Amino acid sequence: NKVVLAYSGGLDTSVIVRWLQDTYQCEVVTFTADIGQGEEVEPARAKAEALGVKEIYIDDLREEFVRDFVFPMFRANTLYEGEYRLGTSIARPLIAKRLIEIANETGADAISHGATGKGNDQVRFELGAYALKPGIRVIAPWREWDLTSREKLMEYCEARDIPVDFARQKTKSPYSMDANLLHISYEGGVLEDPWQEAEEPMWRWSVSPEAAPDTPTYIELEYRRGDIVAIDGESMSPATVLEHLNRVGGANGIGRDDIVENRYVGMKSRGAYETPGGTIMLRAHRAMESLTLDREVAHLKDELMPRYAHIIYNGYWWSPERRMLQAAIDQSQEYVNGTVRLKLYKGNVIVCGRQSSDSLFDDRIATFEDDAGAYDQKDAEGFIKLNALRLRIAANRGRGML
Ligand code: ARG
Ligand code: SIN
Repeated sequence: NKVVLAYSGGLDTSVIVRWLQDTYQCEVVTFTADIGQGEEVEPARAKAEALGVKEIYIDDLREEFVRDFVFPMFRANTLYEGEYRLGTSIARPLIAKRLIEIANETGADAISHGATGKGNDQVRFELGAYALKPGIRVIAPWREWDLTSREKLMEYCEARDIPVDFARQKTKSPYSMDANLLHISYEGGVLEDPWQEAEEPMWRWSVSPEAAPDTPTYIELEYRRGDIVAIDGESMSPATVLEHLNRVGGANGIGRDDIVENRYVGMKSRGAYETPGGTIMLRAHRAMESLTLDREVAHLKDELMPRYAHIIYNGYWWSPERRMLQAAIDQSQEYVNGTVRLKLYKGNVIVCGRQSSDSLFDDRIATFEDDAGAYDQKDAEGFIKLNALRLRIAANRGRGML
C-alpha cells in the first residue's frame, strides 16, 4: 500500500511523511507543485529523499493553474460573499486532480494532505479526489493524530529524527498562509480578533495605498473570449499575465482585503488576502463585458455568479453542476473581445476606456444629439403605458394608493 501526499516541504507535511510511514507502514509518494507560491519547490526533493521517499513528483503547474482554473473562474466575475476572490479555493481542485493522476501512475490506493479538520481545504481536496477516483482512500493526519500544538510537532520531530532544519524554522510566520499566483492568504495570529487591524509588515505582495506612487499607472488589457491575451500590446501566456498584473497592482497598493467569511464547515473565520492581479482582472472583465454582452445574458450571469462562487468555495469544482454552469459561462464569452484601459492609483482600479470590434454600444442610438431617426422617441410612450398597465389596474382597485 502506497499513499500520495501533497507535500510542501515545510515542517507540517514533513512530519506527515514520517507519521504516515510509521502509522500505516506505507510507502509515501510526495507531490510538490509550483503554482506560483513564490518559493522554490526543488528543495522539497532533498527533504523528501532525507525522509526515505523514493517516488518524488515536482511539477510546475503555473500555466495550467491560470489557464484552466483562474481564467475560467473569472469569466463569471466570481466573488464569494461579495468579497473573496477565491485564491485558495480555486487552487485545490488542481492539487486534487494531480494527486489522483499520480495515484493512478504509481498504483497508490490512498492520498493524504495537511489540511486541518476545521477548514475548507480538507473538503475541497477530498471532494475532488472522490469525484475523480471514487474508490480512493483519504488519510487526513490532522483529524487523526494528537500532535495538536507546535511543541508536540517539534517533540515528534526530535523523537523520529526528522532533519532539524525543518524543525528549527526560525522565520516561521505567525500566520497560517497559503500562496499561489492568484493570492496570498493570512489567517490566525492577531487576525483571530476581527476588530484588530493587520499590522503593515504582514503584507508581502503590495505596498499600502498610502505608500503607493503619487502618479498613476495606465495599462491596456486585450481580451479574447473573456480572457486576457495581451498587456500593453504584448502577447502573454496566462501565468505571465497574472504575474505581470500582480506586479503592477502590488506596486500601486491594489488588492488588499480583510474579510470575515463563512466556512463550509459552519464557522466564521477572519482572513486577510492579497490579490492584486485578480482585483484588476475582475474590474477589467466587467468593463469588457459591459460593451459586448447582451443585457439579459449579463444579468443572468450575475444571478448565477453567487451560486457558482459557492460551488467553488465549497469544493465542488469537479461536480456536474459546476461543469453545467461553466459551459454556459464559457459560451457567453464568444464576443467578449477588445481592449480595456485602466488607471491604477493608490489602491484603486479605475476604468477609463474600453473598445471592441464586437461592441453592442451604438453611438447613433445612444447619442444626446440628433440621431437622424435611429431611435423613435414616440415608441417609448406605448412601452411605458403597457408596462404601467398592471400598476394602473391595481391602483383602480385602490391598491397601493397614497
Ligand atoms: N479561508 C480561505 C479559503 O477557505 C483561505 C484558506 C487558506 N488555507 C490555508 N491552508 N492557509 O479559501
Ligand atoms: C486549514 O484548516 O487547513 C486551513 C483553513 C481552511 O482550510 O479553511
